[in-house]
Amino acid sequence: MRFTSPLEAVPTSNPKLLAWVERVVDLCDPGKVWWCDGSTEEYDELAQIMTETGTARWLDPELRPNSLYVRSDPADVARVEDRTFICSQRHEDAGPTNNWGDPAEMKAHLRGLYEGCMEGRTMFVIPYSMGPIGSPIARIGIVITDSPYVVCNMHIMARVGTKVLEALGDSEDFVRGIHSVGYPLDSQKKPDQPWPCNADNKYICHFPETREIWSYGSGYGGNALLGKKCHALRIASVQARDEGWLAEHMLILKLTNPAGRSKFIAAAFPSACGKTNLAMMNPTLPGWKVETVGDDIAWMKFGDDGRLYAINPEAGFFGVAPGTSMHSNPNAMLSLTKNSIFTNCALTREGDVYWEDMLDEKPAFLVDWLRRPWTSESKRPAAHPNARFTAPASQCPVIADEWEDPAGVPIDAILFGGRRAKVVPLVTEAFSWEHGTFLGSIMASEKTAAASGRVGVVRRDPMAMLPFCGYHMGDYFTHWLEVGAKGGANGEVAWGTMPRIFYVNWFRKDEDGNFLWPGFGENSRVLKWVFERCDGEGEVQETFIGLHPTAGGLDLEGLEISQADLDLLLEVDPDDWRREVTLLHDHYFQFGERLPKALADQLTKLESVLKAMAG
Ligand code: GTP
Ligand code: SPV
Ligand code: MN
Repeated sequence: MRFTSPLEAVPTSNPKLLAWVERVVDLCDPGKVWWCDGSTEEYDELAQIMTETGTARWLDPELRPNSLYVRSDPADVARVEDRTFICSQRHEDAGPTNNWGDPAEMKAHLRGLYEGCMEGRTMFVIPYSMGPIGSPIARIGIVITDSPYVVCNMHIMARVGTKVLEALGDSEDFVRGIHSVGYPLDSQKKPDQPWPCNADNKYICHFPETREIWSYGSGYGGNALLGKKCHALRIASVQARDEGWLAEHMLILKLTNPAGRSKFIAAAFPSACGKTNLAMMNPTLPGWKVETVGDDIAWMKFGDDGRLYAINPEAGFFGVAPGTSMHSNPNAMLSLTKNSIFTNCALTREGDVYWEDMLDEKPAFLVDWLRRPWTSESKRPAAHPNARFTAPASQCPVIADEWEDPAGVPIDAILFGGRRAKVVPLVTEAFSWEHGTFLGSIMASEKTAAASGRVGVVRRDPMAMLPFCGYHMGDYFTHWLEVGAKGGANGEVAWGTMPRIFYVNWFRKDEDGNFLWPGFGENSRVLKWVFERCDGEGEVQETFIGLHPTAGGLDLEGLEISQADLDLLLEVDPDDWRREVTLLHDHYFQFGERLPKALADQLTKLESVLKAMAG
């Protein structure tokens, strides 16, 4: 039985797990406890409950089979970075880029909020595996939640249920997550909401030393699907540091050239900066093929051959909907034709979903994500800019055969990138692992709607991990250097067995604010150059910031782009970079003594080269 009045017929005898669940039951006081088995029947039952409570409705089964449509509370639409805390024992271990809370104080405060918080609700216990069950790289977590929406999403995003409990056995090695929307249905007879949450009182807390996640008040995305950012990045980054591997905010793709040779590339771009798109792109270059291993997170460990092997710890895509179309990302569109969940999209009269730029022709009438009538004359967007689809990775037409390989795939190249309207050229190859770590550490990007706050502001986002690193960013840089040294890349030794590092920018703009580079499938031209460089081929020229393709180095066959635009795309302007270096001093200053000397030296070196150039 899945329905158990507190703790009868429980599908595990793991004593640590049982004791913990019992404590959470006592604290949160749910009406019912439901141990998730991960079955289709379970998903269907939860979907049924959500349609009855008004949380979800089915889309037209002929247009979008077995797919749910959900609208959140307008006050709960994205990750909340200002409410996200790293509660390490020592304040300094969270570093200057994270909010910190004292673990004992934070727990005391949250216990107060959790007390009775699930009254009148069902408490779900979800055993999940990040990574294929049984993979030596995979990790198990148990999340307790009062949100059926979270359970359904976790069904798609991770491997969940009884098989995970079997793999766990009596082990204590699991991440403990507690999640509540913070809206008890208490004795006051408060009516339930379609999207219950606690808008003004959100906490997304991580206790890295004890591998715990306590989340309260939000039901949306990375705030609530605790396997994703909270576990697979914030907690896992700490485990990775302790154990000598990497947990990164990276897509993983397989790139095959016309001769049939393949390389695996991982790429770290900040939220809503193009990972899902690159991971499943259709190359415009004839004969080239991209296949998807993952679109958001990579866990990388050394293999016996000294190379880094990556797995995608997830099983689904939680992708940005707006902008996704058969032109921009056909493979995403084909992944979400069925068995998917759509959150904060608009609804068509026919009972399908819509979002900005989904079709060539806008529908005449919609119901927008705020449940208001919308016409093609309306000035406001019909979908929220951070509207998302949840789709099984197995439905992606270009999913790579290796995507569930328990051993992972060997990584040949790592790309860093962000949204920079100016300064940063289309592609740069680092001189060495150390220099590549430097380029990753100075990454910056314009803020997007994936997190609450002002959109468009440029901020430093090292390795796209600013919101996701579970410890001191300076120590994180040190860890990157140490991992490189382990792979034989050390100081002047360029690469050893480590992947080459590149810095890309699809988002440079001209004076009028138009993108200079067409992006999407045309990014294959850059991937081709990366592929060649990994073989020690491809034409390069050196500048103060790295290696770039020569005028003829990029394959531009069949692309219409003016010479002036191309020049601007590839330009590295010393004056721009002198200004950038000034900002980088402030960026680095915050890390104090924990900034690795090798990176400080890289900055000094860049500065002195720029000085020498000025004459
Ligand atoms: P998260 O899921 O938040 O981590 O985002 P992501 O990095 O996977 O970003 P995604 O691929 O979903 O892209 C976000 C937005 O950037 C979408 O609106 C895309 O249409 C747009 N985008 C992606 N690639 C390109 C590109 O090469 N050029 C341009 N101009 N826009 C792009
Ligand atoms: C991101 O913001 O990087 C995402 C979406 O991938 S969320 O799961 O909400 O974090
Ligand atoms: Mn992401």
